Amino acid sequence: MDNPPEHYQPIGIFDSGIGGLSVLRDIRARLPHEHLIYVADSGYAPYGHQSGAFIEQRSLAVAGFLVKRPVKALVVACNTATAEAIARLRQELTIPVIGMEPGLKPAAMVSKSRVIGVLATVGTLNSERFSALLARSTAGVEVLVQPCPGLVEQIEAGEFDTPTTRQLVENYLTPLLRRGVDTLVLGCTHYPWVLPVISDLAGPAVRIVDTGPAVASQLQRRLAEVGLLNQDVGLPGTEEFWTSGSVEHLRRLISRLWGRADGDDPQGLQQDCAPEGMLRRCG
Ligand code: DGL
Repeated sequence: MDNPPEHYQPIGIFDSGIGGLSVLRDIRARLPHEHLIYVADSGYAPYGHQSGAFIEQRSLAVAGFLVKRPVKALVVACNTATAEAIARLRQELTIPVIGMEPGLKPAAMVSKSRVIGVLATVGTLNSERFSALLARSTAGVEVLVQPCPGLVEQIEAGEFDTPTTRQLVENYLTPLLRRGVDTLVLGCTHYPWVLPVISDLAGPAVRIVDTGPAVASQLQRRLAEVGLLNQDVGLPGTEEFWTSGSVEHLRRLISRLWGRADGDDPQGLQQDCAPEGMLRRCG
């Protein structure tokens, strides 16, 4: 039987890659004293076109690694992994598990044209969880869903504002804008990293909904409910970064997006995560 979690333990956060760093940023802003361990499962990214079984198996492998640290709570900072694996993660783990879902409800509340657009991965949009969310959150609003194949790959390659990325975003936004969308939901945690491009192409009249800040508040509420907010508030919280992909590539991206990715010799810190993948520390 596992020991009950303690308030000073870190929070585990994972995504298929660097998308969840947008959520990590929101968590850090809201919870400055928490210690955070981030896993980018980049060796297996993108999750968006993979089968539900594959995503569930990767999510369990990464969660297994984090639980061994041990972490006191888990944030699935990925809409696709939430859609495919959160039920199983909650079954398997005894710590609080917080997931992401596209912000349809807030978008439906603010839309004046009553037409909203959702940008997400194929996996998220095809999931049963998304269909259920659609059915319960959007009465009286037309919802246009737009899968964005290729966009996660551009972001993982660090191409945040290149002509190819712009063209891709424009291709996905144009049909939505033509049909009167006035509110766009970012249904993938990678997309906040191309927010300047999306806002620029959508124009100032279109609102953009990102659920990262709401997830950070939800995490704070859950930790408070179970008495697990870090009581050691004398020092700022720390961050630790791990990846199943290229350590050097991740380090470069983290230093662009997060401002820092120092840390120890990654080779010296290799650690088995699961039979399917090796996680290496990169900051
Ligand atoms: N960042 C992820 C999401 O929120 C997954 C992207 C992917 O790996 O396809 O859906």
